[in-house]
Amino acid sequence: MGQIQLNQVSKSFGSVEVIPPLDLTIEDGEFVVFVGPSGCGKSTLLRLIAGLEDVSGGHVTIDGADATAVPPAKRGLAMVFQSYALYPHMSVKKNIAFPLRMAGLGQAAQDKKVEDAARVLNLTDYLDRKPGQLSGGQRQRVAIGRAIVREPAAFLFDEPLSNLDAALRVGMRLEISELHKRLDTTMIYVTHDQVEAMTMADKIVVLQAGVIEQVGSPLELYQRPRNTFVAGFIGSPKMNQIEGPEAAKHDATTIGIRPEHIDISETEGTWKGTVGVSEHLGSDTFFHVQTEASAEPLTVRATGERALGYGDTVYLTPRPDHLHRFDSKGLRLE
Ligand SMILES: Nc1ncnc2c1ncn2[C@@H]1O[C@H](COP(=O)(O)OP(=O)(O)OP(=O)(O)O)[C@@H](O)[C@H]1O
Ligand SMILES: [Mg+2]
Repeated sequence: MGQIQLNQVSKSFGSVEVIPPLDLTIEDGEFVVFVGPSGCGKSTLLRLIAGLEDVSGGHVTIDGADATAVPPAKRGLAMVFQSYALYPHMSVKKNIAFPLRMAGLGQAAQDKKVEDAARVLNLTDYLDRKPGQLSGGQRQRVAIGRAIVREPAAFLFDEPLSNLDAALRVGMRLEISELHKRLDTTMIYVTHDQVEAMTMADKIVVLQAGVIEQVGSPLELYQRPRNTFVAGFIGSPKMNQIEGPEAAKHDATTIGIRPEHIDISETEGTWKGTVGVSEHLGSDTFFHVQTEASAEPLTVRATGERALGYGDTVYLTPRPDHLHRFDSKGLRLE
């Protein structure tokens, strides 16, 4: 079990309210990602769920029982941090077994649980090593192992991969997703990396200044962002947003079009423009094109390589069925 409900949960530090009252339900077994810019309250929200911070108002309910006053160790949740905080003088085995030893579990039962966790995490061959003899990714797996043996109702991850290099991050991302499939346990995962959010989540919670801007599946957020903030935050490279006369033609204050939904041609199209910087990724090319449509250059994503360079004249055509429209408050128009 691992259903978590927040009812009117709020948090202030002194006189500063960092999380105004919010409601959120996380279903048992769901993989939920909290995403948002630095300082928006992701860690604070996770710590309120874990009980590491007291709420200023509202209630945290875990599996139907009010947990607001329950201390962190009794909530049945396991937290994994960015800095994995392993004990350097203890072997991997002892590090993983640590919470079990603290709970007074017998040696045989400890060994069994550690072996099971090590198998799931591919750490079996490393059990006798010290953390200093492991790679960053392996250390993070030990930290996850220490969480797994507690058999928590939910795992809470706070940017667990941000200390790892890019290649390792991708590897660990897949491992955590696979772990979730195998354990089928609720996971709440905090990141400011929207690619992690898109690829891992069943449900994404987009936060800005402590306020939930939108909750939905990755595709819902990508296809139907509720406002210009979510539109700009989800998707990479980010959605082009155009104001002024071009938007007014569509009865909107702002129109949005993703780089992958603009066709680029050398001969004809809706907006005439000049190619600025191009970014060649091999699989795709991103062109930054200055057009008459907006003051800012528009980003266009073209598949593969295109024989276009700096200063070339091009024509851009947004695909009409992929145009997003927003009103003067930045809210999505249907
Ligand atoms: N103990 C504290 N005392 C006062 N203010 C705090 C405290 N902890 C966090 N804050 C403030 O609360 C806000 C939210 O912080 P939080 O750490 O939750 O952000 P975050 O979304 O996790 O950011 P990041 O992506 O940088 O980790 C910030 O403005 C921060 O300065
Ligand atoms: Mg944080």
